[in-house]
Amino acid sequence: MQPAARAQFPQARPRRLRRTEALRRMVRETRLSVDGLIYPVFVVPGADVQVEIQSMPGVYHQSVDRLVEDAREVADLGIPALLLFGLPPSKDWEGTGAWAHDGIVQQALRAVRRAVPSLVLIADTCLCEYTSHGHCGIPGPDDRPGFIDNDRSLELLTRAAVAQAEAGADIIAPSDMLDGRVQAIRSALDARGLVDTVILSYAAKYASAFYGPFREAAESAPQFGDRRGYQMDPPNGREAVREVGYDLAEGADMVMVKPALPYLDVIHAVKTTYPDVPLAAYNVSGEYAMLKAAVAAGWLEERRSVLEALTSIARAGAEMTITYYAKDVARWLTSEAAAEAEGQVVPASSVARASQPVGTGVPNT
Ligand code: PBG
Repeated sequence: MQPAARAQFPQARPRRLRRTEALRRMVRETRLSVDGLIYPVFVVPGADVQVEIQSMPGVYHQSVDRLVEDAREVADLGIPALLLFGLPPSKDWEGTGAWAHDGIVQQALRAVRRAVPSLVLIADTCLCEYTSHGHCGIPGPDDRPGFIDNDRSLELLTRAAVAQAEAGADIIAPSDMLDGRVQAIRSALDARGLVDTVILSYAAKYASAFYGPFREAAESAPQFGDRRGYQMDPPNGREAVREVGYDLAEGADMVMVKPALPYLDVIHAVKTTYPDVPLAAYNVSGEYAMLKAAVAAGWLEERRSVLEALTSIARAGAEMTITYYAKDVARWLTSEAAAEAEGQVVPASSVARASQPVGTGVPNT
């Protein structure tokens, strides 16, 4: 179909629709909503523990009791879901803590499930936080650095997924990037009658340098080799669409692209190819740390840059974003909505308040 003929300048003046905040608001294509936010948390053994992670200001290692308080706050802010990571008291070659009945994430899942039943609980399913070598699967017998025995590891991952689902996880999110894990996890869950447990696969997860702060937070850096033998090669975009296709065929209910900001093209390609599949993006630890550092240095305005970054992820095609900024964003969106209801527009910051009166009907230049 031919697009309709359109006016050209001087009849056409796109700036007409940018003249006031009210007009801009009407024609906005992308709206951030608290409904799409997922808040990641790190649970550790002990009681009354809350220790800030150095490279991730505002993010904490928390014991189960403190996590429960945090979970209440998250739910009160209207954020629908938590993504849980755990640091076990000890690690071993197979990562047995990942599927132990009283493993750290399983304890946290039970406690939060009981205290805040409305929250959607997502368990990150992987071995790397639990293995002494720090890999997401089990290294093969021939000891090649970084080589992971795919099929043997699948069996261990399915144990972890079943333990998490039995402890109350609504969603299992395998982040290991081994082949065939979605199919293996789906059959293991179904065999236990866990047919309603959702699978959100980290379908296109790249071997990214932006996970640095997380590996400090989760103490999950590989002790030898790297993850390039299983996570995706950053230059590949078309391959991501193929990976998503495999995971959907294996039974994934939702898929994820990770990291987010350096991979907006991948988010867009996945959404364009599979418009009907719920798509998440992980705004990872390095993306968070970059913004935090620039804000701390006084180089960026936090609220505006974070909202712009997250809006870009939504504009690229993700309905859900996993972000360490989720609580701040929920607060910002709520205060904006309240101000709009009163007919005012919240300035992005006190600086903006002083310099740009918006929404007053005064034409902006
Ligand atoms: C575990 C896992 C990682 C992240 C989420 N799950 C680290 C990795 O693969 O090395 C990264 C999250 C972040 O950087 O915020 N496999």
